[in-house]
Amino acid sequence: MDTQKNVKSLLKEKLGQDLLSILERISQVASRSELTVFAVGGFVRDLLLNIPNKDIDIVVEGNGILFASKLAEEFDGQVKTHEKFGTSVVIFPDGYRIDVAMARVEYYEYPAALPTVKQSSVNSDLSRRDFTINSLAIKLNGEGAFSLIDFFNSERDLKNKEIHVLHNLSFIDDPCRLFRAIKFEQRFSFKIGKQTGELMRDAIKKGLVTSLSGTRLLNEITLILKERDPLKHILRMKEFDLLKFLSPEIILDSADLEALGKIETVLSWAETISLTEKPEVWYVYLLAIIYSLDDESFMQMLEKLQMQARLKKSLTIDRRTCKKALELLGEDKNWEPEVIYHLFSDLSIEALIYFLAVDSTDRANQYANIYFTQYCGQAELSLTGDDLVEMGLKPGPIFQSVFNALREAHVKGAIETRDDEVCWVKKEFLEQ
Ligand code: CTP
Repeated sequence: MDTQKNVKSLLKEKLGQDLLSILERISQVASRSELTVFAVGGFVRDLLLNIPNKDIDIVVEGNGILFASKLAEEFDGQVKTHEKFGTSVVIFPDGYRIDVAMARVEYYEYPAALPTVKQSSVNSDLSRRDFTINSLAIKLNGEGAFSLIDFFNSERDLKNKEIHVLHNLSFIDDPCRLFRAIKFEQRFSFKIGKQTGELMRDAIKKGLVTSLSGTRLLNEITLILKERDPLKHILRMKEFDLLKFLSPEIILDSADLEALGKIETVLSWAETISLTEKPEVWYVYLLAIIYSLDDESFMQMLEKLQMQARLKKSLTIDRRTCKKALELLGEDKNWEPEVIYHLFSDLSIEALIYFLAVDSTDRANQYANIYFTQYCGQAELSLTGDDLVEMGLKPGPIFQSVFNALREAHVKGAIETRDDEVCWVKKEFLEQ
């Protein structure tokens, strides 16, 4: 149903005159080009939800690439085009970006394939989309300019806080939508509709997610873990039994869940101490999800998800160092400062956060506090790489060993000043 509701004043009120002016200029360019254009998707959804979102997605009935180049002219911007999909991005001089696509229908040659694309009307374009809440448009020019286009009762679903697919084959067309349903449900505190939930369970039972490439699956998981409060999303994925597509061995037992539940608190603590880097929160949660896998299942999962070498390497190292740290602190001993220094400096900041979520004992917390408040400061070095070269050392991996050994010597209290550092390097690395 087309509600014909005019949203111009809403746009001005929620997003400001500047953005409205941009939309008005887009509207003028469209009319001059004799094309009809629409703002679509998340931008319109968030406008009605009163959530600030300035990412305009434009759909053009007709030649989208040509229209994008006209927009670039209008705004003195640049245009980048993806001919194959008929999509462009217009980049304004200040870096602001607008996505432009032709209205299209998509054919899926087989489930989970990338779609084959054909030009169409805005109605067909909206009807190929994932959920009703994402299938709204604002007509930007021509008759009824700035009116809301609502073919699928999307406004009603937004008001009722419900996620509904547009048709029964939606998850078969694109199993990524199983994750997206949870993402939008949890992000907006909505509820997945009854029938949509049944379709999801059915698609999951049929194992449709296995037809997704590892790259797409990992991308969807990463996006979900980048949401605010990832734990809610993880629990919902567990409820729908979606995590088994990462690895069938991911159980998330009570110990895993307990650790997951503590990450937020450790992150808040981490904000109170001056860390040199900000932790990648999504990665901490990913580490938590895969932490309990045995090595073989872990390796299989890495292969399946076609991870980039860097991510593969960091996950492998972080799992290993975290397990080592847990083992070491599990022993009932009072560790020497250099052992503790070594243990914590080996952990990436994300692995450290996870480690403290798993081992939330007073002992682990005390050691972590001493490490950050005392040892890190003590371990600051005066010597630089240039100094080492001047002293006759050849640049290479040896430098890292020298710096690590120097830091440990500082923490032990064996050296204090720059002169101490020089003597120590000479004794340990040059006089042999
Ligand atoms: N879309 C879809 N099926 C998918 C992915 C996307 O139908 N598997 C459609 C949705 O209509 C969505 C639009 O493409 O609104 C743009 O996708 P994306 O940028 O991922 O979504 P947004 O709705 O803008 O979400 P976000 O707020 O997370 O950016």
